[in-house]
Amino acid sequence: MKKILVVYYTQSGQLKELVDGIVNPLENSDDYQIDYFKIEPIKDFPFPWSNTEFYDCMPESVEGSTIPIKPFNMDGDYDLVILAYQVWFLNLSIPFWSILQDAKMKEFLKNKKVITILGIRNMWVNAQKRLLAYFNENEVNHVGNLVFSDPNPNLVSVLTVLKHLTTGKKKPIKFLPPYGVSKNDISRLPSFGKLIIDAFKGDTWTTLQNQFVDNKGVAIDFSLRTTELAAGRIFKLWSSFVLKKGEAGNPARKGRLKIYEFYLLFLIFFISPFSSLIFKIVYILLYPITKKSLLKTALQLH
Ligand SMILES: Cc1cc2nc3c(=O)[nH]c(=O)nc-3n(C[C@H](O)[C@H](O)[C@H](O)COP(=O)(O)O)c2cc1C
Repeated sequence: MKKILVVYYTQSGQLKELVDGIVNPLENSDDYQIDYFKIEPIKDFPFPWSNTEFYDCMPESVEGSTIPIKPFNMDGDYDLVILAYQVWFLNLSIPFWSILQDAKMKEFLKNKKVITILGIRNMWVNAQKRLLAYFNENEVNHVGNLVFSDPNPNLVSVLTVLKHLTTGKKKPIKFLPPYGVSKNDISRLPSFGKLIIDAFKGDTWTTLQNQFVDNKGVAIDFSLRTTELAAGRIFKLWSSFVLKKGEAGNPARKGRLKIYEFYLLFLIFFISPFSSLIFKIVYILLYPITKKSLLKTALQLH
């Protein structure tokens, strides 16, 4: 019997739905036992969010600040750990990053085989970079990474995600598609569980990520990746600017956060359409190089 632990934090439940779909073939087999550990902050973030609360968690997400998590025991001899997380402001969600900083968690993950599963809007590379550095530092054996995102054009998904997060509705805007991972992707999830079973049976963990990528298990796009890597650096400047006015929840931050909100929306709606077009042209003109570079990011585990 192989033992698997799933560690996750989700608000709407979409991420748990993704995990459930992937582990379904393992759940249906007597050869695997799956345990779940839901990360529970002592003071959880709201869902749905108010506009103020949403932007207020930008600096702490970017800085990698932590919050207290309900007491937990992290032990057991697991053969595989699945870490399922969302991205917040191009970084790891605060509850997820907080649990990773716990000494018990670091000790537990040391030398364990880990698969990461992301359920996000469409930008994840910056966050995963931070996680890969953590894996290296803490000697985690990262064997796979699956990324599922909203398939709609960037401007559409910005509108639907913001409305989804502030109303809690899956189809928050009448004339636009629902927010989240597509039904087609949801239906493909068990195929990734089967690949995990194959890796257990054949001890082929070193080629698992290639199979995930070959089976379109990593959503990645050149223009989004280029945009987010640039934005990740700029967000750092914004977080320092806001933090000068105090800690999370401090009303003194409000003015600076409002300016950040305008900046972000201006960037998304007025600048990004042009920059995306340029990045798309670059992608086509330098196709062999850009394709190779995207593949490298999709395959990257360390
Ligand atoms: C505060 C906050 C910031 C977010 N920032 C990003 C982001 O930078 N990139 C991204 O792809 N998704 C971002 N999202 C969307 C989440 O990754 C995720 O899709 C959404 O929260 C739904 O997750 P859930 O269904 O597991 O609760 C953000 C969500 C929240 C709540």
